[in-house]
Formats: sequence, structure tokens, C-alpha cells
Amino acid sequence: MTAALPEFSETVVVRAPGKVNLALCVGGLDEHGYHDLATVFQAVSLFDDITVSPNPGGGIELTISGEGADVVPTDHTNIAWRAAELLARHLGTVADVSIHIAKGIPVAGGMAGGSADAAGTLVACDALWESRVPREVLYRLAAELGADVPFSLHGGTALGLGRGDQLTSVLVRGGFHWVFALAIGGLSTPSVYSKLDELRGDRAIPEPRVPDAVLTALSSGDTTALASALLNDLQAPAVALRADLQRVLDAGLEAGALAGLVSGSGPTCAFLARDHVHAVDIAVNLSSAGVCRTVKTAEGPAQGARVISPGH
Ligand code: C5P
Repeated sequence: MTAALPEFSETVVVRAPGKVNLALCVGGLDEHGYHDLATVFQAVSLFDDITVSPNPGGGIELTISGEGADVVPTDHTNIAWRAAELLARHLGTVADVSIHIAKGIPVAGGMAGGSADAAGTLVACDALWESRVPREVLYRLAAELGADVPFSLHGGTALGLGRGDQLTSVLVRGGFHWVFALAIGGLSTPSVYSKLDELRGDRAIPEPRVPDAVLTALSSGDTTALASALLNDLQAPAVALRADLQRVLDAGLEAGALAGLVSGSGPTCAFLARDHVHAVDIAVNLSSAGVCRTVKTAEGPAQGARVISPGH
């Protein structure tokens, strides 16, 4: 009797994390309309799962499920679609692949959900097509897709310079507990950056720099110190575009959070808790305040986009 050959897996599942910016310092505009950034990203345990399988001769097919899926395009404008196309073009092949995205990261929420889908699709197609693209090439392709995509590959906690795509790992002791207040509707990232430019007017903008206090708090695992060091230059323009966010930020502090800030370009607001029990307590209080659509707890740092099935 001959032993059965191991079955070749026709489906790959990748899990990719959302993120919060612990410091988001925005400098001036470059010649391409992008802002020079100095930011600290932390990946958190709200995930999108990206499943890919062969679609011989059928090109790309994209389906999306989960909260907010109805407002996400399922055509070539979707960043995950563009990621599959870009990798195929790089490999000189055709992207015949079915992609399914199960959303766990708030849509248009300032938590890099689209970037997670792009990073997840790159990793998933690379595994499905067994192309073994070198890591540094995946990072380059990721940066072509969007400023936050390289971090979605990287995960953990990282300093981001340039457009936010030049990454260096940051030393972190232990983990941090977060509560996220998800808003009704989204905010467009370009419009938040434009509002910042408008609020700044003709003022000279210094080169952006992450305060040492943020990095020291992270390396010592000091949650209280991190709470007083959190900052986001996009918070003022996000609140200017959506005044209701100030009520959410106030409600989070009243609910007992150590600190709160708008996540990235918003409208999700992030609150820092002492520990898991404290996070659940804040989440319960914040839910009953009735200022947001829904509340989620999460931990950071989480791993970057990685294959979860087939297992290794
Ligand atoms: O690269 P990504 O598609 O994520 O960026 C979305 C938009 O956010 C850009 O078109 C730009 O308007 C703004 N942005 C910026 N500076 C950055 C990153 C993004 O102005 N560093």
C-alpha cells in the first residue's frame, strides 16, 4: 500500500491587523502632495482575514463580508484588487485569483483597514503562487500601493518616516490595552490632510519629530507615561470636519480612559486602558454613553500580515 500524498492546499488565508498611531506628527507637503511624517504605528488585534484561491482563466474576483462591507468597492478600485494585480505584473503573470475579505477592522475608520487588505493580499498571493518574493521587494510593492501598507506587512510597533513608509521597529516592553469607539460613517484621509493644511495657513511647518517621551514610555512599558505622551496632528482637522468626535473623546475620558485620541485620520477614536479589565470597563461605560456606533477592545502590538492557513 502506498502512502497518500499530502494534499496541495488550494486556499490561503492571511490575517492582517489594524493600527493606531501613538504619535502622528505631520510636516510640510512634498512635491507629490504627500506630507512628510514622523509617526509611531502600533498594530492592534482587530483583524481582516484575506482568503485567496485560484480562479483559472477568470481574472480577479473580489467579495467582502463583515461590518461595513456594503460600502467597500469590489472592483479594480479596491486596493486589495490592485495589490493582486501589482504582484502578478511584478511576476510577469496574470492574476487569476478569487479574493475574499472578512472585515474586522472598521471601514474608513483611520485604522488602515484598506492597507491591511492590500498587505494581506500581497502575502496571500505570494503564498498561493509560491513566488517567494523577497521581503524587501514586498515592502517596495506595498509602498507603491499606499503609505500605510508597508506597516501592515511589518506589524508590531514601528517608527514611520517619509510618507510613513520608511519603517524602523520600536522597542516595546509588554503590551497595551485599547478601546476603540467606532463612528457612524467614515472620514476621507485626503480631506483630513487638506483641512490640516487649511488650518495651518501660511505658517512655517517645522520638520516632524516623534517626541522622545513616546519612545521612552514604550520601551519601559509605562502605560501612564504613554497616556500623557500620545499625540496626533490630524486630530484637530478631524474634529473640525466632525464636531461629534469631541463628544466621543470627552465620553471616553469620563468612562475612565487614561487618554484618548483620534486614530490616524479618524473618525475612530482610541482610548488607552491600564489593563484588560479596565478596557472592558471603559468599553461598557462608553457604550452606554451612546456617542458612537459601536465599541471594541483590542491589544497591541499585534503581528503584521501573516499566513494563518494552511498552518505550518
Ligand atoms: O497613500 P495613501 O493612499 O494611504 O494616502 C491617502 C491620501 O492621504 C494621499 O492621497 C494624501 O492625500 C494623504 N497623505 C498625505 N501624506 C501622507 C500620507 C497620506 O498627505 N504621508
